[in-house]
Amino acid sequence: MASNSPDDRQYPPLAKIPQHVGIIMDGNGRWAQQRGLPRSAGHRAGTENLRGVLRAAVEFGVPVLTIYAFSTENWARPRSEVKALLSILERVIDRELHELHQEGVQLRHIGRLDRLTPRLRQKVLDAIELTKNNQQLILNVAFDYGGRAELVHAVQRIVAAGVTPEQVDEALISSYLYTAGLPDPDLIIRTSGEMRISNFLIWQGAYAELYVTPTLWPDFDKEELYKALESYSRRERRFGMVPG
Ligand code: FPP
Repeated sequence: MASNSPDDRQYPPLAKIPQHVGIIMDGNGRWAQQRGLPRSAGHRAGTENLRGVLRAAVEFGVPVLTIYAFSTENWARPRSEVKALLSILERVIDRELHELHQEGVQLRHIGRLDRLTPRLRQKVLDAIELTKNNQQLILNVAFDYGGRAELVHAVQRIVAAGVTPEQVDEALISSYLYTAGLPDPDLIIRTSGEMRISNFLIWQGAYAELYVTPTLWPDFDKEELYKALESYSRRERRFGMVPG
């Protein structure tokens, strides 16, 4: 049967592919509210949505994706919502890890693990270990992550390592961040229309192109990702310099 689903569309090749895309997956709560559902249903729909976006990212040739799943500030949400988000992380690992591994996804984590239960922490570490040699896509999950907390943690480790002031430069700081070894994000996408960076990759994203769409995260599909990548490919990046 002929179908007009966006998946059947032919996507013209893009002139320029970002080497690292960050996504602030916002709007799950509003998506649920619009349907008279609890917020946790929005987070579940948002999680379901990830699968298609990951596949599309691979298809479009994006090598590194960082998703903002739980911020250091999210602990202040109602207990039931925090519990739902923690159990989503556990469920994703329990139910999706095998398939993600088969598809060549290398899972990484940025943020704190020490505030998770020992069982969940171990599951995250096991998932990272299992997938560490996969090459199709690096999926960096920001969970209990905040950009300022990341910088505090980096400075603490720099001081503890006895680094002298003269040795401190941008490359050194980058090497102490959770993202050490990864390219900085070229593009940061935020869904649901908010024009904020919300403590996400604040050092690494200093020169990232921003793309904000009104689409709520559970509705952000392959076509939407293509639009974001297309917008990026048309932009001229100057890194503070004048056009050459
Ligand atoms: C923001 O929407 C979204 C979050 C705080 C959570 C995002 C998490 C997922 C999509 C689950 C993925 C999880 C893993 C572990 C892979 P919001 O609730 O702030 O929406 P609102 O602004 O409409 O209220």
